Amino acid sequence: MLHHLDLRDGATTHEVVSLSPVSVRPDVQRRGVGSALIRSAIERADQRGEPLIVLEGSPAYYPRFGFRPARELGITITLPSWAPEDAAMAYPLARYRPEIKGHVVYPPAFGRVNRDRELSPYAAPSPPAWRASATTVPG
Ligand SMILES: CC(C)(COP(=O)(O)OP(=O)(O)OC[C@H]1O[C@@H](n2cnc3c(N)ncnc32)[C@H](O)[C@@H]1OP(=O)(O)O)[C@@H](O)C(=O)NCCC(=O)NCCS
Repeated sequence: MLHHLDLRDGATTHEVVSLSPVSVRPDVQRRGVGSALIRSAIERADQRGEPLIVLEGSPAYYPRFGFRPARELGITITLPSWAPEDAAMAYPLARYRPEIKGHVVYPPAFGRVNRDRELSPYAAPSPPAWRASATTVPG
């Protein structure tokens, strides 16, 4: 799913899109569905004239589509403590300009979910599966 969020750079705010969540039903994983969804999302965001996509995800998975560590573009995301720094990623599109940088601020609804320990993905008994495979592609 693509949704808008803010990138705050001092007094300047840039509106960009975030790709999250991405999920494929376990019984049909590894058949190209995830790749098709992600490539389609990138294409649609570009067609809409969005400058940049940000996401939090596995550094072992998203670089194959062209995502780069967000810090290389001057973009920071507050990650959960278990996540590697490279889990903050960004994809510059045709309308990207270097001044589009800053810290990711999620819409208020995300804060409401994260304050509810029952619903927060970061408060789950164990981190998502990709945490364990953050630096290696599963066999
Ligand atoms: C990650 C996910 C969306 C991939 O969807 P998919 O339809 O299985 O992916 P595809 O079939 O398009 O691609 C499969 C390739 O991705 C790799 N891959 C799948 N999940 C991966 C992961 N978590 N980390 C690294 N590589 C991964 C596979 O090894 C495979 O590689 P290969 O083509 O070299 O064999 C899916 O596994 C999923 O829903 N996982 C659970 C939720 C999740 O982790 N979402 C991502 C949150 S950041």
